[in-house]
Amino acid sequence: MGMGEKKLPILRAEDISKEFPSGTGRLEVLRALNFSLEAGVFASIRGESGGGKTTLLNILGGLEAPTSGTVYWGDGALPKQGLARLALKRAGTIGMVFQNFYLVPELSAFENVLLAARVARRPLMEARERAESLLREVGLGERLHSPPAHLSGGERQRVAVARALVNRPAAVLADEPTGNLDEVSSGAVMELLQGTCEAQGASLLLVTHSRAFAALATHSWVLRAGRLETA
Ligand SMILES: Nc1ncnc2c1ncn2[C@@H]1O[C@H](COP(=O)(O)OP(=O)(O)OP(=O)(O)O)[C@@H](O)[C@H]1O
Ligand SMILES: [Mg+2]
Repeated sequence: MGMGEKKLPILRAEDISKEFPSGTGRLEVLRALNFSLEAGVFASIRGESGGGKTTLLNILGGLEAPTSGTVYWGDGALPKQGLARLALKRAGTIGMVFQNFYLVPELSAFENVLLAARVARRPLMEARERAESLLREVGLGERLHSPPAHLSGGERQRVAVARALVNRPAAVLADEPTGNLDEVSSGAVMELLQGTCEAQGASLLLVTHSRAFAALATHSWVLRAGRLETA
């Protein structure tokens, strides 16, 4: 790359608005919001409950379409329709830690993590090794074969974190990944997320209610009235 040439952000949201029908009217959750996540940075978003943080992550992750505006992954604009077709690309680009985990109930912890690697078409042996080692890192080495129903809320959250990291994504979008965890587990999960992203040069976008964790980020934002303000 030559001097003065700017590297493309991993993710970019341009003029994103999102409305939901609400009673007889509309609820404006995001209003002409702009955001970009540069390669290798750690960004945090705080904001009041119901403010639209999860909605924003879903839109950035290509799981939900904005009412208007455009999301870019690298230089590619996401289509307005047919987001389901992005599954393979998403699996190789973005790791998501959902607020309510979305683990597959019929699968074990290990199989849940492995499934994400299979969606990204990773070679099986390598995927198995990585899934197991990530689960060990989050302290679930003895619970590999437990289904989510046999795990505590915090343990499920740690499975979700391992799953988000399994494909070495360019960006991890984590929605309150420490929301159900005690102080010790929270610290461990944050270290794993931050440490793994840093080691891989991946960007981390963290939604959190914790000021302390938000302050670890290089860029901190607050979502207020549908827009991001510098914290
Ligand atoms: N599918 C939907 N249909 C209608 N309203 C929705 C839908 N999804 C979200 N909303 C509304 O949009 C607003 C933003 O929701 P969102 O889940 O993004 O907030 P949040 O900032 O993540 O909140 P929290 O901190 O509690 O997780 C809320 O008022 C919510 O009720
Ligand atoms: Mg939320």
